[in-house]
Amino acid sequence: MAARGNPFGLSAEAKAQLLARLSARPPLPAATERLDPAQLDGARDVDAVAAAADHLGIADPYFRLHDGIAGAETIIAGRRYSNFASYDYLGLNGDGRIAEATKAAIDRYGTTVSASRMVSGERAIHRELEAALADIHGAEDAMALVGGHATNVSVIGALLGPGDVIAHDALAHNSIIQGARLSGARRIAFAHNDPDAADKAFADAPARRKLLVVEGHYSMDGDVPDLACFVAVARRHRAWLMVDDAHALGVLGRRGFGSAEHAGIDPREVDIWMGTLSKSLVSCGGYIAGARALIERLKRLVPGFVFSVGMAPAAAAAALAALRILQAEPERVARLRRNGALFHGLLRDGGVDTGTSIGAAIVPVVTGSSIRAGKLAAALFERGINAPPILYPAVPERAARLRFFVTAAHDEARLRETASIVAAESRRVAGEPAELANITRRVKR
Ligand SMILES: Cc1ncc(COP(=O)(O)O)c(C=O)c1O
Repeated sequence: MAARGNPFGLSAEAKAQLLARLSARPPLPAATERLDPAQLDGARDVDAVAAAADHLGIADPYFRLHDGIAGAETIIAGRRYSNFASYDYLGLNGDGRIAEATKAAIDRYGTTVSASRMVSGERAIHRELEAALADIHGAEDAMALVGGHATNVSVIGALLGPGDVIAHDALAHNSIIQGARLSGARRIAFAHNDPDAADKAFADAPARRKLLVVEGHYSMDGDVPDLACFVAVARRHRAWLMVDDAHALGVLGRRGFGSAEHAGIDPREVDIWMGTLSKSLVSCGGYIAGARALIERLKRLVPGFVFSVGMAPAAAAAALAALRILQAEPERVARLRRNGALFHGLLRDGGVDTGTSIGAAIVPVVTGSSIRAGKLAAALFERGINAPPILYPAVPERAARLRFFVTAAHDEARLRETASIVAAESRRVAGEPAELANITRRVKR
């Protein structure tokens, strides 16, 4: 008879043998045998550029480990650098008032809201932040999402569908392009900052719903659109106009309220304002501002809002505190404007190619070659300046560059010294070989 607790009638010894046999699984193949990362789209380019850098003896300029609070200076591997790689345009990272507001929000709400806002993650701090953001953009309402990139992807993905058309600037941020792809709408990239090209795109592509997307201040080039002309194009074609003001908030306009203030247009001419909390507002997240009827619907339609956790109280509180400082201390915006113009002017006087930048805060140093950009960044790093290169395939090879973010926290002496070093090192690397193709071909083999 089977013993109690041993219903299959196995002896203790037989049971132990059976268990041993069952648990002796064959060894698993290495993870890379199941999923070969080299087969990922773009992996060959990434590997080739890394190999080319290796070949040229340039250290990887990415994923550098910073210590402490990165501001006008940052500490990397124990050494202090002049820092031009942070979006912190108003110099607010580490501000004591923002830290206090953030800590208070954690004390009051905890570290998470633990649910989608629709279900049970709604907190007063979300609504306060959204009211303040709507105010800045002269809009009726706003909604905040956990990521800036995710905001564009999820919102644009929800605004349009197959049969619709989206026309966006050719230099639009990746998140705009991903959102357009997700929507299934026909996607047309028109020539950078060219309203006539946008006009033609819509004329050539009749559709029921149309969306025109531009940025208020382009993150790679530091130039701005003629917003009034894009408003006119949108009206002519009955298209919705969306402006991504990620790099314009805190930077453009007399008070730093963004591209509408800079262009002198009524912000209500723009149907959908998009922005991020990660730049001037020294936090993390994205937002949409517009008509109340639009926001109310988007809050129940956008998957990245409905099916994602509400913004962490700390992130919302930090952004709100930074926004209040932006409003209360316009001198920060004025200082940023002076700094941007000074640095941009010094570089140009030094013969450096700053592309189409208007010198507001984003100043590229175009080398036109990934190799030269890599070498220039390495030389500057050696001399205590942190300004990472933007290389192919992130930009076309002829557009390879270094990108400087000037902030209100940089002082004049630092800007002057940096500009003179950049000009000297740029002249030096200009004479170096620049053919990436030859090297990547060699290392790809
Ligand atoms: C124009 C633009 N839109 C959206 C984003 C995404 O914002 P985030 O980095 O806050 O996710 C960026 C990021 O740099 C950006 O430059």
